Amino acid sequence: MRYLNIALAKGRLAENSISFFEAAGYKCGEITNASRKLIIEDNENMARFFLVKPADVPTYVDYGAADLGIAGKDSVMEAGRRLYEVLDLKFARCKMVVAGPKELAGKLDSLNNKRVATKYPAIARDYFENKRRESIEIIDLSGSVELAPLVGLAEVIVDLVETGNTLRENGLVILDEIAPISARLIVNRVSMKMESERINKIIEAFRKKLEGKAYRP
Ligand code: PRP
Repeated sequence: MRYLNIALAKGRLAENSISFFEAAGYKCGEITNASRKLIIEDNENMARFFLVKPADVPTYVDYGAADLGIAGKDSVMEAGRRLYEVLDLKFARCKMVVAGPKELAGKLDSLNNKRVATKYPAIARDYFENKRRESIEIIDLSGSVELAPLVGLAEVIVDLVETGNTLRENGLVILDEIAPISARLIVNRVSMKMESERINKIIEAFRKKLEGKAYRP
């Protein structure tokens, strides 16, 4: 039997992701230890866990470097890769939104040639060009996106909102909701066939955990 390779996202998704695999009988808790080690092996289950940047999980899974992984729906949408999204794991729930100053409420149709700051250029472009038919300029940032409308870098932003605190504290409001977001189990298309037995057991265990039931292999 070969190793099953599993990509997990560093940061806020890590703890819950580990608890899902532990509920399926895997041992990967060690991965969050302070060490800089990026691969943890669970030899008993012939599995290998990689800890990667959240946005990179779909890349590992698409290329088959990881057979499966847990990624935020935001990363899955932004990556636009050909993989199977098999389960909504219902944690890390938030929303992808368009936000901006309240003066722009109801005026999204007049944003032609306006600037949109975001960490999610593909999602923003798709939303404005395909859904709203507005031609806009994307300002690609890597964080603190809420600052952009405050200092004239962009008119609006496309970003995640969880509690809404960051928007409120910066005087911004939600102008439209693009998509609900949460953690998803994603699987490589070839692995789904070649490793279907092991992967289906994981899916079953995850389903049981979601239903609040214990998994018995
Ligand atoms: C995320 C997101 C928002 C904020 C939303 O940013 O991009 O800025 O959290 O959360 P809230 O609605 O609960 O305030 P993150 O903390 O990852 O930092 P970043 O802005 O540097 O990306």
